[in-house]
Amino acid sequence: METPLTLTDIEALAVEQLDPDWAEYFRGGAGREQTLAENTAAFARWRLRQRILCGIESTATETTVLGCNVSSPIVVAPVAYQQMAHADGEVGMARAAAAAGSALCLSTFSNAGVAEVAAAAPDGVRFLQVYVFRDHGVTDELIAQAIDAGFAAVFLTVDIPVVGARDRERRIHWAFPEETMPSVRYALERGVEGEGLQILDPALDWKYLARLASSLPVPVVVKGVLEPTDALLAAEHGAAGVVVSNHGGRQLDGVMPTIDALPAIVEAVGDRLEILLDSGIRRGTDVATALALGAAAVLAGRQPLWGLAARGEDGARQVLELLREELAVALHLTGCKSVDELTAEHVVRALRP
Ligand SMILES: Cc1cc2nc3c(=O)[nH]c(=O)nc-3n(C[C@H](O)[C@H](O)[C@H](O)COP(=O)(O)O)c2cc1C
Repeated sequence: METPLTLTDIEALAVEQLDPDWAEYFRGGAGREQTLAENTAAFARWRLRQRILCGIESTATETTVLGCNVSSPIVVAPVAYQQMAHADGEVGMARAAAAAGSALCLSTFSNAGVAEVAAAAPDGVRFLQVYVFRDHGVTDELIAQAIDAGFAAVFLTVDIPVVGARDRERRIHWAFPEETMPSVRYALERGVEGEGLQILDPALDWKYLARLASSLPVPVVVKGVLEPTDALLAAEHGAAGVVVSNHGGRQLDGVMPTIDALPAIVEAVGDRLEILLDSGIRRGTDVATALALGAAAVLAGRQPLWGLAARGEDGARQVLELLREELAVALHLTGCKSVDELTAEHVVRALRP
């Protein structure tokens, strides 16, 4: 295939080039994949409201995420095992994000370590996603190493105390590749016990969040919030922000699509927390819809991953730039000069699906 020029062509090329089992792993969801499908279908139920003759010369997608300056409100979501998508792996993704001016959130289950990622893109904005090992001290050490390497926030993922029921993973006999991850090797060397994902603590609670948030010099964001009650509890226990997320439809099938969960969470805690959203971001217009409904920024998981899988670092950068360009077009055509100007007045719920 020639160099792909559009987001859909990049995805097609990625799926063609990936090892078939890993393609199943990356694209799959949980259960009957209802939530996976709904995540994108729900965005299509919102309409952007076009405005005309606004006299806008150009638009600005620049903003801040957790106090860091970025060129766009599109953060690269933490996605595990990126070297299985392309040899460039997390290092390539970090370079792509830095070149596109996007922040990067690195998974605990990355194939490259925090120091390597920091060295690859020293000027990039980077955050650390945290899964908590059964020995909390080991996780504290890994977080300290990341903060030393310039990671500017911690995203505590809380929607995976158990792994969702994923048929595609069963079919391919997917096994946790523990030796490929520096953080997991570190944990095993430090004596953390458990078969596969059992090395993680399945029983985290609000006290854990409070301890983490009060002990770190960087903001802690809770990733995997779908209920306003939980967003309020996150605020009460010291979080600086939340990611409204259903893990890209990979955890509890049948939960709400995130764009439908967002408005009530914004109403509950919008004045107290920075609210981010992921799950189902496929186009720049989806980013515009999320911002209009109150998200400060979005995380994109599979889209940059397809770019990486298709063409390595260049492909990931191309995806991030296409998303940013589409957002700029949406801003211009809704009469907004900057991302801050997008409000609920710029969207309307469709009368028909
Ligand atoms: C293959 C894959 C691996 C993922 N790995 C992680 C992970 O290690 N940590 C995490 O917090 N979320 C992980 N996620 C969830 C993403 O961070 C994000 O919530 C999700 O991909 C957003 O949905 P989208 O793919 O529709 O953009 C993963 C998602 C996918 C698709």
